[in-house]
Amino acid sequence: MRKKIVAGNWKMNLTLAEGEQLVNDILAAGITLSGDQAVVIAPPFPYLQQVKALTRSQPNVFVAAQNCASEKSGAYTGEVSAAMLASVGVDYVILGHSERREYFNETNAQLAKKIDLVLANGLKPIFCCGEPLEVRKAETQNAYVAKQLEESLYHLDAGALQQVVIAYEPIWAIGTGLTASAQQAQDMHAFIRGQIAAKYGQDAAAGLTILYGGSAKPSNAAELFASADVDGGLIGGASLVAADFAAIIKSL
Ligand code: G3H
Repeated sequence: MRKKIVAGNWKMNLTLAEGEQLVNDILAAGITLSGDQAVVIAPPFPYLQQVKALTRSQPNVFVAAQNCASEKSGAYTGEVSAAMLASVGVDYVILGHSERREYFNETNAQLAKKIDLVLANGLKPIFCCGEPLEVRKAETQNAYVAKQLEESLYHLDAGALQQVVIAYEPIWAIGTGLTASAQQAQDMHAFIRGQIAAKYGQDAAAGLTILYGGSAKPSNAAELFASADVDGGLIGGASLVAADFAAIIKSL
């Protein structure tokens, strides 16, 4: 049975005190998770250790970084390596978020290197993919996402792929209030699973967790998560409000 995950990506928001309060409020919200369900919290780098300390006693709550360097170590001022993240207890690393691709020019090839470093350090990548609006309008989103998967993931062997979580985030739905319909999300998730099946086989595809991201909120989470190939969500704005994030988790 594949894992169902709700992940909260705080992006560049909150002070440390606000972040600690948010985590405490989420933990106090009376959430019960079954064995195949997990919550992942992705705060900014400086708060990773504190968030890990606050959640360490919760067996199904994990901590993610929002990015890592594409080099192992060395003279790369301002960068944070996968090994550093592992050393402070991080569990997952979000890679290839569209904001990283758009504002920091991350390429599929760079992301392939980051995936390798994350896996080599025993962490799990949450690999983001998804098309911009003009691609969706041209109805070429499947080819666009297939290329992202191929260029960043397909060098992995089947064992390594098992560690990967994919997040489908149509760029036109991120932070815009425009959510993909449950059918649009399901169609793309089924397409992604089919691509993975073609490359790695049915078992690998059946075990792969695929999250939806893009203006998910308490009012639409249950419908999105009810789709057969949608295994949870990568939540931005709504993960900053404890009651909203808790409600989304309860929709799993
Ligand atoms: O990483 C999260 C996604 O970018 C979704 O953000 O929920 O604010 O649209 P959003």
